[in-house]
Amino acid sequence: TALPPIRSVAQPRFFGAALNSTFLFNDPIYTKLAETQFSIFTPENEMKWEVIHPFPNVYNFTPADELVKFSHTVNARMRGHNFVWGSQLAPWVNDSLTATEMDIILKEHITTIMDHYKKDNIYAWDIVNEIVSDTLNVSTFKQILWTQKLGEEVVAKAFTYARAANPSVKLYINDYSIEGLGPKSDALFGIVQGMMKDKIPIDGVGFQCHFGLGQVPATLQQNLQRFADLGLDVAITELDINTGSTSPTDAMFAQQAQDYLSVVSACAAVKRCVSVTTWGIMDNHSWIVGKDVLPWTGTGEAKPAATAIVQAFEAA
Ligand code: G3I
Repeated sequence: TALPPIRSVAQPRFFGAALNSTFLFNDPIYTKLAETQFSIFTPENEMKWEVIHPFPNVYNFTPADELVKFSHTVNARMRGHNFVWGSQLAPWVNDSLTATEMDIILKEHITTIMDHYKKDNIYAWDIVNEIVSDTLNVSTFKQILWTQKLGEEVVAKAFTYARAANPSVKLYINDYSIEGLGPKSDALFGIVQGMMKDKIPIDGVGFQCHFGLGQVPATLQQNLQRFADLGLDVAITELDINTGSTSPTDAMFAQQAQDYLSVVSACAAVKRCVSVTTWGIMDNHSWIVGKDVLPWTGTGEAKPAATAIVQAFEAA
């Protein structure tokens, strides 16, 4: 039996996917799933610095505009992604810039882009992405160009510039390996607590949820809840469950379904968990090349994972 559109069973939460303009306009199976299953989209690459601001004072809004326009046609919202990150920067944003210059271009970048989409349906922005260190031995913050030039202050600056640019969009900090309780999640919790104490505007925390098979932390719901208890929204922002295989066994498909069910159930159990976004739609168009990771196959068939997502939302 055909599954109901997941966007409808997810209500009042949003169910989303990372959206890629290359596939949206070239693969009709992908397009059909994008048109029917989702109520929120994240541009996979189209709003990243290297694409949207490729040269000084030169913005290329076209790829992202196409995705935003599509989201309007299917009555879906968007998550903007992202401003402060250590990857996919434009080559001109490099170590030769002074701290003052970096601060100026950061404010201009955030303001220009948020202004451009002010009349659109951007629901939330990942203002800062993957800023917490994976080792924590030297600093809580990753050593990326932004923190090297502007220090940890760059977080407060980015959120402050974003709130000034658009007071009505939700401002998120987004990261990975912070999904379960643990040192990295504790570090992020401390950063967010500090931001709120210092009245830095922040509305939500994004939990990427890139997991291997059987690796969903048992403390995910408890961790989501402690961030929500700070008075913030939480969101599952980049969910995929990597089987590590091109042709999984039935047992692997069952485990993958169980893992998707665990993540969606954890979100559904936390009142302020507002959305679940998978990082892609179909396996053949995943950033994890050649592996079985997403709820739909390369020919658009719903896998047990898709059924599990429906079951998790329906049981909420
Ligand atoms: O645009 C160039 C193109 O001109 C060139 O021909 C082609 C071949 O070299 O590369 C293209 O750039 C690729 C880009 O995606 C756009 O397609 C890069 O090589 C490739 O590395 C890049 O991968 C993206 C990755 O972020 C980069 O870190 C993935 O598509 C994207 O899914 C992934 O998404 C990130 C989130 O933004 C943050 N969280 C982790 C997540 C997975 O890494």
